[in-house]
Formats: sequence, structure tokens, C-alpha cells
Amino acid sequence: MKVLVIGGGGREHTLAWKLAQSPKITQLYSAPGNPGMAAISECVPIGVDAIDELIAFAKQGQIDWTVVGPENPLCDGLVDRFQAEGLKAYGPRQAPAQLEGSKIFSKRFMAEHNIPTAPFDVFQNATDTKNYIEQRGLPQVIKADGLAAGKGVFVCFSQEDVDEALNEIFEKKSFGDAGLEVIVEDCLEGIEASFLVFADGDHALPLAPAQDHKPIFEGNKGPNTGGMGTFCPTTTLSAALQQEVINTVVQPVLDGMKAKGTPFKGILYTGLMLTQDGPLVLEFNVRFGDPEAQVILPRLNTDLIDIFEATEQGTLNQLPLSWDEREALCVIMASGGYPGSYEKGQVISGLDQVGEDVIIFHAGTKQDGGNIVTNGGRVLGVTALAATREDARRQAYTAVEKISWNGAYYRKDIGIN
Ligand SMILES: Nc1ncnc2c1ncn2[C@@H]1O[C@H](COP(=O)(O)OP(=O)(O)O)[C@@H](O)[C@H]1O
Ligand SMILES: [Mg+2]
Repeated sequence: MKVLVIGGGGREHTLAWKLAQSPKITQLYSAPGNPGMAAISECVPIGVDAIDELIAFAKQGQIDWTVVGPENPLCDGLVDRFQAEGLKAYGPRQAPAQLEGSKIFSKRFMAEHNIPTAPFDVFQNATDTKNYIEQRGLPQVIKADGLAAGKGVFVCFSQEDVDEALNEIFEKKSFGDAGLEVIVEDCLEGIEASFLVFADGDHALPLAPAQDHKPIFEGNKGPNTGGMGTFCPTTTLSAALQQEVINTVVQPVLDGMKAKGTPFKGILYTGLMLTQDGPLVLEFNVRFGDPEAQVILPRLNTDLIDIFEATEQGTLNQLPLSWDEREALCVIMASGGYPGSYEKGQVISGLDQVGEDVIIFHAGTKQDGGNIVTNGGRVLGVTALAATREDARRQAYTAVEKISWNGAYYRKDIGIN
């Protein structure tokens, strides 16, 4: 079987790493991939948004399955386009992917299907937004409607926060068309958790829950990032809470999408706030989280191809997932300055000093002659698997300490705080 992974970040390296272990796969391709993916697959220089070129490559190369890592091509209808050409692609089609692609669509869908989420309203300009917030009272959360790479949400505690958000969205138009409309929703208090399932349109198979560490500094201080580390499993979501989320959120999403004639097939990622009134939905994503994938997939024993095929056939309920008993922990190594501005092109050393007991997932790296150099904010994800989280932590950090470049930064408290 020939398989193509679309994307070139840490999540996609993890998908490729997992797929490379499948005995069913004879040839693995990545588009565009990265130096880590180049070691386990053949990288083809096609960007994730070049859908026509990707289709041409998949047809010509007789690709059996294509798996899509990032949200943009899913929301742009890559899966619909592939399927129209008779090509198999894993991930939701464009209509159900709007759960992530439009926060307004998502909130209206939740309202329609009685899925628990914060009260909200929708606005098209700064004045109406301000008036509503004045009426409703602070704190409130302002969210750009469309995809904003995790930068379109403003949790506002003061009038200054509100003004800054509105300036960013409606004056500077920092989010382009993604910021033409906004959601304003009540600010929720509680503990955040995410809950991921594989879905086949009818059935949901829960994945082992993972814990993210978003803020840049130790002790969860400083600005939010794409994620500075993860571990799996976590006990934040008890078995009872997981069942509650399936009953009140996940199954209603699947049933609602099916009723609209747009069944959800793929990964449904629910971002939750665990409040005193129970779990409320903050958002949906329609793909793996990054760096959640880096600790979830290494623990998954089940072959991804079996999951893709059961998804296509609607038989996920007959496929029990099997998990490695060990715990996984991932430390993200980032460029100094991230999530603000940072330098690229720093030579990474020590990658070959790391033992077999850890996996290095490349995110922002590039091949530069004989060197691998930094090429993004989050550069590497270093994942260890061990009997306990503490052992995994020790192994991951032992490896991290061997890897270096000018300005390399990582949090030292992943798995603790
Ligand atoms: N209603 C809310 N109440 C409190 N915090 C929120 C709320 N909505 C979002 N947040 C915070 O903002 C973060 C980003 O919001 P989210 O809806 O997940 O959008 P995105 O991931 O697309 O940026 C959340 O992880 C959470 O910390
Ligand atoms: Mg989020």
C-alpha cells in the first residue's frame, strides 16, 4: 500500500512515524515533509494548499491513502476534492470541517443541537461588539470567526483588552477575512481539557487523553504558544467525565452532522472547560493536536490503516483500540524568542547523540547542506515512553540536554505543572 502524509510539522512527522511501522505500507510519501520525515518517507515538494498538484501526485503515484495533518486543507475541501477523483483521503470533508473552520458555524451548530457551551452572540463591527460587552459585563472572550493559527482569541478582563482585540480584528484586520465577523462569549472558569475521538460518521472511538502545556514559561506563565509539551495519559478527564462528554457533546455532533447529510469522518478534537456546571465546549478541531499527537500516536498499537478503513466503512465500533501501557511525555524545543520573533537558520547539533529510547519529531527544521538548521518557532518535539511519567520525563530531558543550537529554549517542567 502507498500512503501520502500531507503536512510538514511535528504532528505530521508523528503520523508518518506511526504509519512507517505498518506492515501494510510498502511506500510512504510526505508532502512537503521535513528533514525528520525525509528519514522515514520520500518527501515531495508540494505545499499543503496546492490541492491540484497533490491530486496529480496521488493519481500518478497510485496512492492508496492520503492522510491530512493540518486544518487548512481540510477546511478548504481537500478530502472532497480527492474523493471526487476516486482517491481515498482520511479526514473530514469540507462541510463538517467547518466545526473548526468557522467558530460561528460551530457555535450555531452547538446551539442547534443543545451541546453545552458558553452563551454567545455574533458581530460584524467594533461598535456593536463593544455595546454588547458593556451590556453583558466583563470578562468576555472575543474570537475571530475563521482560522487564525491559534492567535484569533482574546480573553478580555478589562476595557483595554477589549479595545486591543477590536483594534487587532477590525482596524488592523490582522486576520483578514477570518476576522470579518466575531463571536463574543462568556468567559468560563475551570480546568481546560481536550478530548479526541476517531469518528466514522456514526461511532466515536475515544483516544487516550493527553495534557498540553500552552504557556511559554515554567509554571504556566507568559503568553500562549502552540504547545510547549505534552504527556499521555492524563487523569484530568476521568472515565465518568469522558462518558459525559461522549453523551452530551460527541454523539450529538455525530448525530447532528449525519442528520444534515454531512457525516463527520475523521478526528474530532473537543476543547473543553471543566466548570462547576459540567464540561462546556470551548471549540472543536477536526484533526490531531500538535503536540498532542506526539504523545498519543506513539502509545497507539492499532494500525492507522485499519482505523482509516473502518472509518470509510463505518465500522469503527468493531475495532477495539489497543494502547501501549507505557506513559509518554514530549518536550518541545523552541527557537529563543518564540512565540514572539526569533531567528532561523541556527545549526542544530546533538541529534545523533540521542539514544533509541526517545523519538525526535521534527517541526521547524530544514536541511541546509550537511546540517539540519532551525526553521520555525517550535523546532523539535522530543518524546520518551517509559513505565511511569516520571521515567519518561527523565528520559526525554536527558535527550533534550544533548541537543542544542544558538538560543534553544524549552520548559523544564513538562509533566509537573
Ligand atoms: N469562553 C472561554 N472562557 C475562558 N477561556 C476561553 C474561552 N474561550 C477560549 N478561551 C481560552 O482561549 C484559548 C483559545 O481559544 P479556542 O477557542 O481554543 O481557540 P483557538 O484554539 O482556535 O485559538 C483556550 O484554550 C482557552 O484558554
Ligand atoms: Mg484551542
